[in-house]
Amino acid sequence: MHTVVVFPISGNCHHLSGSVPIMSEADENTTVVIIGAGVSGLTLGNFLLRSGIDCIILERRDREYVEQRQRAGVVDSRAVRMFRAWGMEERVIGGDPVAPALNFRIDGETRPLAFVSADQADGRFCPQQVLVRNLIDVFVSDGGDLRFDAEVSLENIVGDEHPLVRYRGGDGSIRAVSCEFIAGCDGDRGASRAAIPSESLTRYSHEYGYAWLTILAEVPADHQSMMALHPRGFAGQFARGPHASRFYLQCPLDTAISEWTDERIWAELETRFGEPVKNRGRIANTQLVPLRSVVYSPMNYGRLYLLGDAAHIVPPMSAKGMHLALHDAEVFASAVIHYQTNDHDSSLLDSYSSTCLRHIWNYQAFAAWWTELVHNAGDPSYQGEFRRQTARADLERLFESGAANRLFSEFITGLN
Ligand code: APR
Repeated sequence: MHTVVVFPISGNCHHLSGSVPIMSEADENTTVVIIGAGVSGLTLGNFLLRSGIDCIILERRDREYVEQRQRAGVVDSRAVRMFRAWGMEERVIGGDPVAPALNFRIDGETRPLAFVSADQADGRFCPQQVLVRNLIDVFVSDGGDLRFDAEVSLENIVGDEHPLVRYRGGDGSIRAVSCEFIAGCDGDRGASRAAIPSESLTRYSHEYGYAWLTILAEVPADHQSMMALHPRGFAGQFARGPHASRFYLQCPLDTAISEWTDERIWAELETRFGEPVKNRGRIANTQLVPLRSVVYSPMNYGRLYLLGDAAHIVPPMSAKGMHLALHDAEVFASAVIHYQTNDHDSSLLDSYSSTCLRHIWNYQAFAAWWTELVHNAGDPSYQGEFRRQTARADLERLFESGAANRLFSEFITGLN
């Protein structure tokens, strides 16, 4: 049904306030408006497009920005299999297979931790921006409707009227799109979750009490990953393409980023790794990231559904942010397809939040355990010597027990 919406721009439309032309009705209709062109929004858009379901993706930034944004580097086994099942693996996944082991430097000694279930894993070392670029190319070349530079506001999320997404395009014009469902795929700081009244959403969170100094440097990596557990704290090096690495240094939350000169960064990395960093290259970027886990529940409000980082954050140590975003996209796409092809049966939409949350809490539990293990096993000044010893025992079990390693491997490779 076509919805006509008459409005003065209200307080909810703060993104669009100012001297803008006021229109009196929706300019167009679609089934799903997807807000945000990150991995969750683009994957959802592609799945709907392939299933013949109308959708429009509205992205706040421009295409170049979205395609260049540096992010995580692993598409895990579940995600590869998902794209394979949807007939998209060849077109969207790039990069080498994920190495079947994690490399540790523990007290200055190199110890590779091989995955017991490596033969069943088929994850790929594919930077998120490569996946995003490929998802955009496929969506656009298959006729998908993706609009950049769009500032959105959401209306009619609950009630009898169809939801309405109003947006200001790059040319300053305002358009209104009426839809059946809104998919909020706009990350942790987007407009979607902010449109839900706070009393209708519960935020569960855990702060780890330390941060990562993340350093993007022009340093080719010898390995996909190298992680140091050291009394001065955790350090990591992860390959970012053939010519660059992302380094990580655990540090206190109140560390001043300005005090981290290039010389201090290299010296600290060498101390924690217990060996020189070959080829100290140009440092392109440093950032401070406090480690936290967050879940918002439920993941829907009326006809608005939250996906990906809009609904949950996992600490970067787990490398599971992309896994969860893609899982949400598949569950939501399947629910919408079911609704559209089964006489508006909303059962899968009704269970969307509980289906996703079961999976999310399972991975949050893994992410919290793994994050605490690698950080507590090094510097005892955060959690104490007792936790350092139990973390060391947990780690040794992974090297020595096939059963413990199997469970760990299934999570880290995304097999379950
Ligand atoms: N309107 C439209 N788009 C928006 C808005 C808004 N108000 N706010 C943010 N966006 C866009 C961002 O520019 C970005 O392109 O939404 C997109 C969100 O994408 P991601 O941040 O990649 O989030 P998601 O798709 O949930 O993917 C989660 O990204 O941060 C990593 O580790 C995380 O791997 C995980 C993945």
